[in-house]
Amino acid sequence: MDKILVLDFGGQYDQLIARRVRSMSVYAQTVPYRKITCEQIARGGWSGIIFTGGPRSVYDDDAPSFDPAILSLGIPILGICYGHQLLARLAGGVVAPAEGGSEYGKTRLSVGECPLFSGVPRESVCWMSHTDAVCVLPDGFAAAARTERCGIAAMYHRDRRLYGVQFHPEVTHTEYGALVLRNFVFAVCGCRPDWQMDDFIRSSVETYKRELAGKRVLLALSGGVDSSVAAVLLHRAIGENLVCVFVDHGLMRKGEGDEIERVIGRQLGVRMIRVRAEDRFLARLAGVADPEKKRHIIGEEFVRVFEETAAGLGRIECLAQGTIYPDVIESGKGDSAVIKSHHNVGGLPEVMAFERIVEPLRDLFKDEVREVGEKLGLPSSLVRRQPFPGPGLAVRVIGEITREKLEILRSADAIFREEVDKAGARPDQYFAVLTDTRSVGVMGDARTYGYAVALRAVSTDDFMTAEWSRLPYEALEAASSRIVNEVKGVARVVYDITSKPPATVEWE
Ligand code: XMP
Repeated sequence: MDKILVLDFGGQYDQLIARRVRSMSVYAQTVPYRKITCEQIARGGWSGIIFTGGPRSVYDDDAPSFDPAILSLGIPILGICYGHQLLARLAGGVVAPAEGGSEYGKTRLSVGECPLFSGVPRESVCWMSHTDAVCVLPDGFAAAARTERCGIAAMYHRDRRLYGVQFHPEVTHTEYGALVLRNFVFAVCGCRPDWQMDDFIRSSVETYKRELAGKRVLLALSGGVDSSVAAVLLHRAIGENLVCVFVDHGLMRKGEGDEIERVIGRQLGVRMIRVRAEDRFLARLAGVADPEKKRHIIGEEFVRVFEETAAGLGRIECLAQGTIYPDVIESGKGDSAVIKSHHNVGGLPEVMAFERIVEPLRDLFKDEVREVGEKLGLPSSLVRRQPFPGPGLAVRVIGEITREKLEILRSADAIFREEVDKAGARPDQYFAVLTDTRSVGVMGDARTYGYAVALRAVSTDDFMTAEWSRLPYEALEAASSRIVNEVKGVARVVYDITSKPPATVEWE
């Protein structure tokens, strides 16, 4: 099988590169630059290497770099943004603060003759985000594209099959970005499009069969798509050595805990235990208003419950989770910024009683996980289920969490979801948030003073970016009127019309 190595130098979009390549039916894997050596790459059977972007300057003292011998392995390389500058530097070129100043956002690109740009019009739009630029080409390289401010927006050495682009071909804002990546993968690297999701399933099952032989694994099952898919995948690999534990933290939506207990284990064909832990979670969260603190407490408490449950089940060496790529990137990996600590990544405590964490879906995006789920034969009601965050309603009750607030939110949320479903609208995620603002209202001639509930609905492919949904006014009206009338303690309903970015999907 032909495969591309995405060498990760800390950019926000590096998994997106791997995903774009996989969508061309060629396997791609992202590996942090510190986790692999030149010798390992030489022996790895890679058809091509992509250097990703990164937030640093190649001149920083501790800037990510790599053994220059990588350029002589005879494997084609494509450097993107920081990767382009690093390639230039390793090959003997010069990188400096861009003479024309930094470029950010959509920029006009003029391309010349170069195998990378076959089929790309001479003039098009690309996405730029850089402060430094290649100002002197390495020996034997030619410039292949320019923008108004950047003379070497692309460069290449045809014989050595080394290519660099200052812009980001992996983001959709670059008009012909997908074609540039295709040209690299197929024309330059000579890959054949012979990879399918089935291969991911097959190779994951084989790997875990080998690596987890004789070990018992406790999987944190939330009832959502990610952990359910991870459970079925691991069950294929290790069978009865897998025990799934659903920790009911008391922060689930209306009726959800019972529903998961009744349905999920049976649907997935795995052994599942429900642990009721509402009291201990709420006790630890009492008085805590800071979102990051809440997430860390929940992450820690989850693991403590898993450890205790594991201890009661005999020796269990590994903890498995349904972590997916957006959870990893937003929790801040390597040099990238922390957006929020997803409880299953950044929220993990330092010390845990497990030998190993197993995360079979860590490199995949949500839509890829759904595809895996479909291939594994999971029911479509489960595969298409809207996501629900691990910390549950804790990140939807703004500020301090109390039982009363949770009850209010559960009722409001159930009404909203019912009305959206009734209207036949299909946002990718929709829910209610209980704000910590109270507001004055009037009902039956009397003054009321109650919480403001915010309704949120978004459409998205991968949850990395999202648009607020244009729900029918009738659905919003029905939800608003029912919530204020039926849920005691709510005086006002608002609709959130912020996209991601700049907002995130969840409020906390
Ligand atoms: P944000 O709020 O980061 O959400 O834009 C993106 C997607 O991730 C879900 N989400 C989480 N999922 N653990 C999870 O398993 C978490 O801590 C967490 N925080 C947010 C969110 O519901 C949305 O689908």
